[in-house]
Amino acid sequence: MAIPFDLITTRNTTTKLYVTEHNPELYKTVFAEYASDSCMLVVDENVQKSNSWIIDLVEKCFKKVVLAVVPSGEGSKSISEWSRIMDIALQSRVRRKTPLIAVGGGVTGDLAGFVAASVLRGLPLIHIPTTLLAMVDSSIGGKTGINHATGKNLIGAFYQPRHIIADMRFLETLPEREWNCGMGEILKYACISKTSIFDDANAVLNGEQGETLKKLISDCAQIKCDIVADDELESGARAFLNYGHTFAHALEAHTNYKRFAHGEAVYVGLLAATYYSQISGANVDSDRILSCRESFKLQTNDLIKDIPQLTEAMFSDKKIQDAALRLVVLKAWEQPKVEDVTDLQRVREAWHFALQKADIKNN
Ligand SMILES: NC(=O)c1ccc[n+]([C@@H]2O[C@H](COP(=O)([O-])OP(=O)(O)OC[C@H]3O[C@@H](n4cnc5c(N)ncnc54)[C@H](O)[C@@H]3O)[C@@H](O)[C@H]2O)c1
Repeated sequence: MAIPFDLITTRNTTTKLYVTEHNPELYKTVFAEYASDSCMLVVDENVQKSNSWIIDLVEKCFKKVVLAVVPSGEGSKSISEWSRIMDIALQSRVRRKTPLIAVGGGVTGDLAGFVAASVLRGLPLIHIPTTLLAMVDSSIGGKTGINHATGKNLIGAFYQPRHIIADMRFLETLPEREWNCGMGEILKYACISKTSIFDDANAVLNGEQGETLKKLISDCAQIKCDIVADDELESGARAFLNYGHTFAHALEAHTNYKRFAHGEAVYVGLLAATYYSQISGANVDSDRILSCRESFKLQTNDLIKDIPQLTEAMFSDKKIQDAALRLVVLKAWEQPKVEDVTDLQRVREAWHFALQKADIKNN
């Protein structure tokens, strides 16, 4: 019997999380817990192509598999795609005990999770995250949902999975840029909770895999589990997971979501938030984050002239309440807090530091 890496107990669900090398027996054991002949399998289209073994494996474990393939990309977190998959589920007559297995990155996980929350008021949900970001972040914590024309993630539900299986085998086919997306969030955990993650992240970026990579993922997943178990509905400490993200969202919006992948924007955001903390008196050195700069290969110098607009864009972040700019900052490494910002000059200085230092050409 496989042992879960962690148990996350929230309002009404206990989630079993596995961070593991590839182990077909584990899937069989987990699926057997559902006492169902059939399942619904929602898979990212690139994963279907590059990791078709997962479909074969699921088909060996259930008599009937209702398959829905999700087109790659953020565009799939839409009302139309949600509706299409709802149709597939209902037309194939899934029942309330039919497990829904979501296989993919954060896009597929968020979308399929929301389908699971909606069909018949809730199907049991299993997440099989296939990107680094999904393993350390999006598959954990029960935030499911889709985008609306007025903004990202505006339609959704808190709906916890029963199982999460983070299988390292999927990372073998992950494109290089997607590693950066996960690394942005990984470095965030280093800042807010465990600075030893900086060393493991650097080792992985320099080519180490195996146990180091598994430990890195396990450490980050553990941090997210602890935060979610304490504050499932984001009334307190869960907000710390937004460290660097107010800067990142402003950068993404200002560049029309075209120029930077989310994790790349998070990297710039971490530099800015840490420098902001530093010049506000925290005992932190933002140079620590710079050791990963080579991997991100960013060009940001030209945006220095846009700092007034970037600062303005921070005010439209949906997590900002009232007129104040609310930022997650550090008191010291591993000690985040939420602060209402009054000194915008410091914010502009932080932008300047981050945009200048993140640029690969400024060595
Ligand atoms: N729910 C949450 O708590 C939470 C947290 C963070 C982010 N998110 C959401 O996650 C989404 C981003 O997730 P993501 O970065 O995983 O992106 P993604 O799901 O778009 O996947 C990235 C790309 O990698 C491909 N891919 C996935 N796994 C692969 C594999 N093993 N091999 C080859 N290709 C593979 C996909 O087809 C896609 O092209 C955003 O929509 C974001 O809002 C949600």
